[in-house]
Amino acid sequence: MSKKVLILSGSPRKNGTSNYMTDEFIRGAKESGHEIFRFDSARANVKHCFGCNACGMGSKPCIHKDDFVELKEYLLNSDVIVFVTPMYYFGMSSTIKKVIDRFYSIDSQIKSGNKKGILISVQHAPVDAVKDSLNNHYQAILSWLNMENAGIINAIGIESVEHIKNTPYPKQAYELGKSLQ
Ligand SMILES: Cc1cc2nc3c(=O)[nH]c(=O)nc-3n(C[C@H](O)[C@H](O)[C@H](O)COP(=O)(O)O)c2cc1C
Repeated sequence: MSKKVLILSGSPRKNGTSNYMTDEFIRGAKESGHEIFRFDSARANVKHCFGCNACGMGSKPCIHKDDFVELKEYLLNSDVIVFVTPMYYFGMSSTIKKVIDRFYSIDSQIKSGNKKGILISVQHAPVDAVKDSLNNHYQAILSWLNMENAGIINAIGIESVEHIKNTPYPKQAYELGKSLQ
């Protein structure tokens, strides 16, 4: 069955490694007939959450009027949210984190949405343990939002786009997109 898939990408490098993984995921997902909306966090106009609590975690609209207003509709209507990020200092990039912080104003609606999550990350360090801090953070976000994990791909030890093309990771991203249910 066709799913509505929202992709939040987190790299400022348009032609970087994680966006290459995103392209491969989308190629697979489109082949299986899924509906894709891609949101480039690094280029979007999304302000930081002020923590003012004017939204009351969902009872009133957020005070900011920016690109999150459009994104919100996709967040609420999606079946799957795919978080794609380069590893930055053992976590997500600040651009994608900024967007996730804005979930605050629609937390309760996301929680009741029976959504699935996917994490795709790319890191330079060729060390398995480095990914744990990011994966644990992702799992905590999913648990808070009552979302089910539908897959994690950590591309590790990546030097460049030319390098990642010669690893199994892009095929894994393609197949994860293609096998989405
Ligand atoms: C600000 C910054 C912080 C980074 N922190 C880490 C890190 O903690 N661990 C790691 O393995 N790589 C780190 N890297 C390397 C990137 O994760 C890696 O180059 C990744 O492939 C970049 O993804 P992109 O090509 O999609 O931008 C960092 C790079 C930058 C620019």
